[in-house]
Amino acid sequence: MQGIAERAADRVEGLSASDYLEESIMEPGAHLVEGYDDVMPRVIGRTISQEELEELVAFLLTQ
Ligand code: HEM
Repeated sequence: MQGIAERAADRVEGLSASDYLEESIMEPGAHLVEGYDDVMPRVIGRTISQEELEELVAFLLTQ
């Protein structure tokens, strides 16, 4: 996750860093990082609250 804030801004055209991070957590298969399989658990997005999601994205934006 080191440097994720900078990478997240450039991953998908038209998606801001925070929108990309949110989508990557809520729908991990939406945009796969090249070289990786679609193995990230969906259970994370299904079990965290909206507030936790926002805090997680805010934290990742500091990394
Ligand atoms: C709270 C826990 C987690 C968070 C916040 C999280 C967040 C993220 C984010 C933001 C990305 C995009 C990375 C990028 O664009 O460079 C990503 C990708 C990925 N994650 Fe997670 N992740 C978590 C847990 C996990 C777990 C437990 C696994 C596997 C067991 C996993 C597997 C992957 C893989 C393989 C990718 C790259 C492929 C893809 O884009 O889906 N993640 N994760």
